[in-house]
Amino acid sequence: MIWYPFTLQFEPDSPLKIVRAEREFLYDENGNSYIDAISSWWVSIHGHNHPKIVQAIKDQLDKLDHVLLAGFTHEPAEKLAAELLKITEGLFEKVLYSDNGSTAVEIMIKLAYQYFQNTGEPERKVFLKFDTSYHGDTIGTMSVGGNSIFNRVFSGLLFPTKEFKSPNCSFCPVGKKPVTCNVECTNEIEDYFRKNGQRIAGIAIEPLILGSGGMIFYKEEVLQKLEKLANQYGAFLLVDEVFTGFGRTGSFFAYQRAGIKPDLVAMAKGLSGGALPIAVTLASQKIHSAFITPEPEKAFYHGHTMTGNPLACSAALASVELLQGEGFLEQVNRLESKLKRGLQTIADEFPKSIRDCRVLGAVGVLELEVGGESGYTYPGNKILKKKFLEKGVLLRPLGNIIYLTPPYRIGDSSLEKVFSAIRETLIEISSGN
Ligand SMILES: Cc1ncc(COP(=O)(O)O)c(C=O)c1O
Repeated sequence: MIWYPFTLQFEPDSPLKIVRAEREFLYDENGNSYIDAISSWWVSIHGHNHPKIVQAIKDQLDKLDHVLLAGFTHEPAEKLAAELLKITEGLFEKVLYSDNGSTAVEIMIKLAYQYFQNTGEPERKVFLKFDTSYHGDTIGTMSVGGNSIFNRVFSGLLFPTKEFKSPNCSFCPVGKKPVTCNVECTNEIEDYFRKNGQRIAGIAIEPLILGSGGMIFYKEEVLQKLEKLANQYGAFLLVDEVFTGFGRTGSFFAYQRAGIKPDLVAMAKGLSGGALPIAVTLASQKIHSAFITPEPEKAFYHGHTMTGNPLACSAALASVELLQGEGFLEQVNRLESKLKRGLQTIADEFPKSIRDCRVLGAVGVLELEVGGESGYTYPGNKILKKKFLEKGVLLRPLGNIIYLTPPYRIGDSSLEKVFSAIRETLIEISSGN
């Protein structure tokens, strides 16, 4: 009946039927509960069914379900846009609505591309990207994603880009140690800019953490260097905050943590606290100015049917208010300390099985040493997922990379249960059970 996403169609396991959720807990049809330690693909930052978000949706539904956003507007869309411009501290001028992370990134790509078409530099068409990056599943976002099992089969359809090795502070691509590092991982990019600066439209980047590509962390100075290069050569940084936005790395946005000032940023996932699909692309005054012209060919023709849906905007407004009102950064900091303590203890206990332990904000990672095939297709992945679920924990390792992206207010006992599930699973695996 349903073609489930990211699911092998050959002998697929039956999916778990969830009937209810609350805070970090999911409940199945048989009354079993599961701790959602990954916030259901990183969206439920306040936990599931937060009463304030649920109420906001209900209140809005009593007034207006939907209206198109061309030639019409409504209060939730206006208020949310104003709020987003406020929390991004005046860096941006316009908010473009869409429905998911892929579309938000797709809009960044199109805006950057058309900016140069509109401003008389049509030769600027090249986008730079990283080999383990992921920006979504549409043709455009797959084009700026790293070459992977997700997009390889479509290589004939993807537009040409220039790929570089990802920065990676756990396993440095140029063999540096953090103390000796002077972001040499960006040298090749600098060289490419020197030779091709006039042809480059932008750099697509996940700030501070490359998520789906393996929860790879890299330092703020890399972003600062890329911004410098982009500014120097007149290209744009396309900052994809779809995963990292709304507190995940310990600041509202990862680009703020790095102190950079991009012209384009994409947000989704945590935007509505996971209640309804919504995404935004924020554009600076510089980008917007290239579209203020009476020439119809220079307008930006991109708008999905449900763009700026009032219910989704209301959910997002409630979520953003929650983030502002509850000392959430302190919450994330506390969670970061707990993740560091819990995961490092496991890493110390299993030095042979774990080759890296890293934590940033509300993201905790244990990278397994697996000897043979690692990465997304690591054959032990299915067993790991099954063993965690049997212990009442939803974890979905990316291949051999076990990661936690829990709701920021996950309870201590739940977190302990997640750590225990990992520990027990590692014992079972090492003893061949
Ligand atoms: C960094 C990043 N960008 C874009 C996307 C695509 O978002 P969506 O799945 O909502 O289209 C994802 C999804 O995981 C992501 O992690």
